Amino acid sequence: MPENNNFAKWYHKAVVYHIYTKSFKDSNSDGLGDLEGVINKLDYLNNGTENSLGIGAIWLSPFYKSPQVDHGYDISDYRSIDPVFGDLETFKKLVAECQKRNIRIIIDFVINHTSSDHLWFQESRSSRDNPKRDWYIWRDPKEDGSPPNNWLSVFGGPAWTLDKNTGQYYFHSFLPEQPDLNWRHDEVQEEMKNVARFWLDLGIDGFRIDAIEHLIEDSYLRDDPRNPDYVPLRDDPYLLNEHLFSKSQDDLSYCINALCELISEYPDKFIVSEAYVDIPKIVSLYRACEQKVHAPFNFNLMGKPWSATEYRDFVDRFEKALSQNDWPNYVFGNHDRSRLISRLGEEKAKIVAVILLTLRGMPFIYYGDEIGMSDVSIKPEDIKDPFATMVADIKFSRDPQRSPMQWSGEEYAGFSKVKPWLPVASDFKKKNVETELKDPDSILNLYRTLINFRNRTPALQYGSYRSLDTASPDIFAYVREHGEDKILVMLNFSDQKIKESPPFDRVRLICSTSRTAGENAEIKGGITLEPYEGCVLGIEKNS
Ligand code: GLC
Repeated sequence: MPENNNFAKWYHKAVVYHIYTKSFKDSNSDGLGDLEGVINKLDYLNNGTENSLGIGAIWLSPFYKSPQVDHGYDISDYRSIDPVFGDLETFKKLVAECQKRNIRIIIDFVINHTSSDHLWFQESRSSRDNPKRDWYIWRDPKEDGSPPNNWLSVFGGPAWTLDKNTGQYYFHSFLPEQPDLNWRHDEVQEEMKNVARFWLDLGIDGFRIDAIEHLIEDSYLRDDPRNPDYVPLRDDPYLLNEHLFSKSQDDLSYCINALCELISEYPDKFIVSEAYVDIPKIVSLYRACEQKVHAPFNFNLMGKPWSATEYRDFVDRFEKALSQNDWPNYVFGNHDRSRLISRLGEEKAKIVAVILLTLRGMPFIYYGDEIGMSDVSIKPEDIKDPFATMVADIKFSRDPQRSPMQWSGEEYAGFSKVKPWLPVASDFKKKNVETELKDPDSILNLYRTLINFRNRTPALQYGSYRSLDTASPDIFAYVREHGEDKILVMLNFSDQKIKESPPFDRVRLICSTSRTAGENAEIKGGITLEPYEGCVLGIEKNS
């Protein structure tokens, strides 16, 4: 990918920190994280010095008014804040405090569905001829009374629920309490744009669009084909079908473009959208936005086998597939997926930190990954995630990756003064912000060093990317380059020491996952990487 000097906006430079608001910091001792708690911890994210993480933007999980059946992803009023999290005044204060610190705010925008408590749905379900009836997707039962087709809910069971009052089924990609809006309806699109303007006018910088693939279904409601590879009990029940018709239809691109047009009314805004898709589909989602203010999340490395060649192959293919103005991103963790450390272990997770913060594009860090938080085991009686309850299988619970942030060794890890809504990890006395800040070898200090280095290094922020051929198949190496500024990244994916000779005469060690680098320590004649070592090196001029 050639160097492109148009990449000078905040979203080209910022490292994004994903705050699962309910679990970040409780300010009012009710066991739940809230917006005031986020404000209290902003200095940790960025206090203007390199003693803090150096975060450039936060993405906040939903804080809107909601019955909290899906922890805020079921919104009952798009223009107010749920009392659990605070109120609009607190939100305005958050915006002002973020602006002081140069932290941008991306808010979660759940537009595929509302809560069944939303007034729109209450009206829609009240009668077949209500003006809002078609704001949602209603269909008659089949002759035998069964649902209109075989579509499944992501959270288990059919995607249709019968509403006895009017004798029709309504469609829900997720829980019955999350009815899908009809995005082919002009009034729905217009109203959602007005909601977006409400938040943009309050000073936010962008949106993370939830479940974007689900916005548009087949208008003929054709049955999805069965998935021949489905293995009962092992697989998520949603995988019983191949979702050919129940999501991601062509008109999705019109919806994305409409959202891009809308945010382009405001300067400097950006949208990221949630879609678990492969490179060709990612590319089509980029194409949908003419203004180039949208990027679909790239979750692909999360599922790749641990192999230097697999990683290199993916990044090379991804870079090649993007066009000049597409802004890439990499995601290794979020509130829906098992924690990075629990999937890979600490050594590999440190390499991932290097990858995340040295590749081209927008890096997303899930809260707590920077201190090495792991999944927390939850007793069946403590389950809070409706997904696990719906499919009646604890292995699908997303609670383990949503445990309270570990701030200190105090009771409840300094998250709250009372018992939190989910249990705190048992290792919190060792793994917490306070302790790790004091330990130069901690994963937190690795993240801090990498982010701050990235923030002052144009080559890493918007330089070009080129992978290098290596003698060993276990090394993934690449160069990031902007003008005279050149950075070499070398990653040893194996548990063996490996000597490599990068094609540069003189490099200097900037940062490593397993050695304390004196800045400017010059390395000549090859480098021996320790098992699972990741190194960031400066390439000296003319070398
Ligand atoms: C998205 C969210 C997830 C939520 C679902 C339904 O996938 O990330 O947490 O449960 O949408 O809104």
